[in-house]
Formats: sequence, C-alpha cells, structure tokens
Amino acid sequence: MLIDRRNLASHFPWIVLSLLIAGGSIAWFWSASRGASEWPGGSTPPGLTFGIVGGLLILFEFALWGRKKLRRLRIGRVKTWMAAHIWLGLVTVPLLVLHSGFRWGGPLSSVLMVIFLVVIASGVWGLILQQILPSKMLHQVPAETIHSQIDRMFRFLHDDGLRLVRTTCGPLPGEDADRVDSREAEDGLPISHMTVGAVQTVGSVQGKVLVTRVPKVAVPGAEPLRNLYRDSIGPYLLEGKKAQPRLAQASKAQGIFEELRVKLPRDAREAVDFLENLCDQRRQLDRQKTYHFWLHNWLVVHLPLSVALVILMGFHIWVALYYR
Ligand code: HEM
Repeated sequence: MLIDRRNLASHFPWIVLSLLIAGGSIAWFWSASRGASEWPGGSTPPGLTFGIVGGLLILFEFALWGRKKLRRLRIGRVKTWMAAHIWLGLVTVPLLVLHSGFRWGGPLSSVLMVIFLVVIASGVWGLILQQILPSKMLHQVPAETIHSQIDRMFRFLHDDGLRLVRTTCGPLPGEDADRVDSREAEDGLPISHMTVGAVQTVGSVQGKVLVTRVPKVAVPGAEPLRNLYRDSIGPYLLEGKKAQPRLAQASKAQGIFEELRVKLPRDAREAVDFLENLCDQRRQLDRQKTYHFWLHNWLVVHLPLSVALVILMGFHIWVALYYR
C-alpha cells in the first residue's frame, strides 16, 4: 500500500490509536517496574494485559488473509484493513516486548519471539518496497503489461521481428519461402505496416509507439540485418539476457544498432528502428518481471511465518495456562 499525502488521512486514526496504545503500555510498564527488582513478567497484571491485547492484535493481523480470500463478502474496505494492519501490526512490537519483560524465556517463547520479529521485519520491508517500486515501474516500464502475459509477449516480440526481417531480407537461410507470407494469407491482407510499442502516457513519460513500413519486396544488401536477427536479436527477444547479455544493456544495444545501420542500404534502416524498439520493449518487460518479483517475494516469508506465529502462539497460551 502506498502511503502518501493523499491517503494520509485514512491512516491518521490508526496512527493515533497505535501511539495511544504504545504510550499507555509503556507508562503502565514503567510505573509497575518502579521499585521492583526485575522487569514485570508476562504473568503480572500489566504483562498479562499486554499479552492478551498483543495476541488479539496478532489474530486481527492474520485475519487480513481471510479478508483477501473472501473479497466478495466485502467486510470493510480493503484500504481501511490495510491501514489498520500496518499500524496495529507495528504496535504489537512494544506490546509483546513489554509482555516478555525483556526476557527470551524458554525455547518455545524464544522461537515465538524470533518468528514474530521476522514477520514484523518482513512486513516493514514489504511496505518499504511498496513505497518505492510501483512509481519506478510506472516511469521505467511504459510498455507494462499484465504480468501473466509477459512470457507470451516475448514470443510476440520475436515473431513480429521475424516477420519484418523476412519481408525486408527474404526468408532466413533454410526457411520455407512459402511460409513467409502465411500471416498475410491468414489475414487475407498484405502487410504494409507494423506497429510496436505500448500506447500509454505516464506522467511526462510517453510510451513509445513505432509504426514502420514493411518493404513490399526484399531489399538487396540487407543480409547483415538477417544475420544479426538470427544470431542475436531473435534469441534475445525470445530468451532475454541469458541469450544475449549485450542487448540487455541499453547503451550497448544502441551501439550494436548504430553499427548495423551503417552496414545497411537506406531502405532497410527503418526496420532497424523497429527491431531496436522491440529490444527496448523486451528490456522493459524484463524490468517489470524483476519489480514484480521484489514486490511479491517478501510475502513468501511474511505469510507462512504468520501462520506459524498464530499456531505457536496457541501452544504458548496453552503451556502458560496449564503448566505454570
Ligand atoms: C504480527 C504481525 C503480523 C501478522 C500476523 C501479519 C500477517 C499478514 C497476513 C496474513 C497477510 C496477508 C498475506 C497475503 O497477501 O495473503 C499480510 C499482508 C501484509 N502485511 Fe502483515 N502481518 C503482520 C504485521 C505486519 C506489519 C507490522 C506490517 C508493516 C508495517 C505488515 C505489512 C503487510 C503488508 C504490506 C501486507 C500485504 C498487503 C497487500 O498488499 O496485499 N504486516 N500480513
């Protein structure tokens, strides 16, 4: 969730509530420990209260999972849940540290505390990433697409490039010339133009849209284009950095395309702009994948450890009630 000036008001009540809980708990703990030889533990009146409130808050935190799974029941607004999740989640830290009386206790309570702290740390980490990455993505990935479609997009980019190279240079060596025009035959129309790029405006950044004319007959002397497509551009569009690390870097790719333009007759140069744009899109989609990974991978820690936390907390309460 992005926290900014526009939605700060919806966070405000939860921030105030959390500060009141934290401040009140610290004040109570401090007054209960005055004159005592050690910090009040979890079974003292303040310690027990902090444990109960902290435990209930953990259950509330965990309920976010249910809220997400049962979206259609619409129990409260997602925004409100998230704001409460963040601030009430944070206030569990002072509550449960005070509940522990600054002691690790036995093995069960130590493991419980470590899991709890990792859940909190992963939540804070996820929240920080949510503040940074979406705006970066908006600016650096104007060709953004639905994440599940990215791998299909790679295939489309490759096929578009191949079509253009075939019409500009003739069939690739060893290729069936009759298959070259199969797409024209399928559409029932001659291909005269190709379009590439996302039509999207993000702030001041305009997504590139490139339209190129497709030559009606193969351009003599365009073999360097065909060779580069076969050896580098095609594999890069399909498999990315691992196939062609140089094309994965914008500055190096620019050099490669400049070199290619010099070698080609004028009529084939428009095709180079088009291929350069396809490579640019491939880079953007790879970047989108990376951002997506970082935006979601922390949940792989946060969610399973939350489950473990709730289960172990149940054991902790059972042991505390029946074996003490
Ligand atoms: C004891 C404490 C906590 C528990 C048990 C807990 C549990 C959960 C659960 C069960 C989810 C839903 C996972 C899913 O998407 O399926 C979640 C999501 C999340 N939690 Fe926590 N959490 C805790 C504390 C925190 C804290 C302190 C923060 C941040 C300061 C935080 C930030 C988040 C964020 C950003 C999400 C993702 C929501 C989204 O964008 O969909 N959590 N948490």
